[in-house]
Amino acid sequence: MIKWKVYVDNNGTTPLREEVCQLITKTLKCGWANPSSQSDEADEAARLIKISREKVCNVLNCSEEEITFTSGGTESNNMVLNSISKLYAKPHIVVSAVEHDSVSACARNLNKQGLITLTEVELNSDGNILPEDVCAACTSETRLVSIMLANNETGVVFDVATITRLVKKERPGLLVHTDAAQALGKIPVDVSALGVDYLTLVGHKFYGPRVGALYHRLTAPLLPLLFGGGQECGMRPGTENTPMIAGLGLAAQLASQGLSRHSRHMLKCRDYLESRLLETFGDKLVINCKDSPRLPNTSNFAIFLENCRSVNVLERVKFVASKGAACHSHTATKPSQNLLNSGVSYEVAMNSIRVSLGIHNSIEDVDFIIEDLIKVTNELAQL
Ligand SMILES: Cc1ncc(COP(=O)(O)O)c(C=O)c1O
Repeated sequence: MIKWKVYVDNNGTTPLREEVCQLITKTLKCGWANPSSQSDEADEAARLIKISREKVCNVLNCSEEEITFTSGGTESNNMVLNSISKLYAKPHIVVSAVEHDSVSACARNLNKQGLITLTEVELNSDGNILPEDVCAACTSETRLVSIMLANNETGVVFDVATITRLVKKERPGLLVHTDAAQALGKIPVDVSALGVDYLTLVGHKFYGPRVGALYHRLTAPLLPLLFGGGQECGMRPGTENTPMIAGLGLAAQLASQGLSRHSRHMLKCRDYLESRLLETFGDKLVINCKDSPRLPNTSNFAIFLENCRSVNVLERVKFVASKGAACHSHTATKPSQNLLNSGVSYEVAMNSIRVSLGIHNSIEDVDFIIEDLIKVTNELAQL
């Protein structure tokens, strides 16, 4: 069993909640029958999937036909972009300049193949995207706008509700997707309030298993990525992963039920972290995108030492944080492109640390982080 001193990389992935782990284990033992078979056991497996779908629908405020279970965020995001590329003749797609790779790499690949045209909308100097800039990027050829609900590196929350309202007013019929991987369990996620046509959910970002879901409005067109046995109304064929699907529904329900308590707690810890960082490191500290609305759990910052122009302390600390998106390979010579695109300078981006707190972190964990940072920066200053 992994036992880290302090784990603050929850935007990378979260540990399974105990209740979710128990349900998955029970389903592995008692719900293993093929949900499409004809038996009481198969009916039980199908019932567990139905219960999970109902839970996800209650959380997102949608109907059961509008949810497709997938293997995760990468698949959900790819499914939306690929669908649009096939449904229309060379459609124009608009995304932000800081989407997760599962949107941006997919879009760039479709663009490279000549299947779509693509605009990546730039952000302002504080890592936020202006709804009017998204609107201005849309043309009569635009079929899809895909803007994430919250950024995984900076934690900046984008105003997707306003973006949707503006672009749909200006261009009726245009479809909007949001990647809400980082949002559930941290901020409210309601498809009706957001007005979106597609929304991506990722279980392992809210203490659930490593599977996902895609919300697709009943009237929004969607094509499967895979072809096979017709499961999930043909949208996601393949024998269902019943235990993980069951766990996803419960994790979503628990995340939603605990939202105000957990987000208040994480915000308290994040604000305490930033005030202690400021009091400890003063003008040697840069907190990225701090003037934009941010997720309650995320702080992205860099510390500069007097005798060095900049130092990355992350390699020496005992707490577990990250340099940025866990799935990007960061080298000593290459900062996160998404941080640069969020208005962060090259030098700051090179040395930035992302602390993403979770529901299990405490004020004591923050004290540990600060003490650890003081120790490491003192050591580095002596070098
Ligand atoms: C914003 C965002 N979207 C999508 C994903 C992809 O999720 P997965 O790697 O589980 O497919 C991630 C995971 O890091 C993410 O942070």
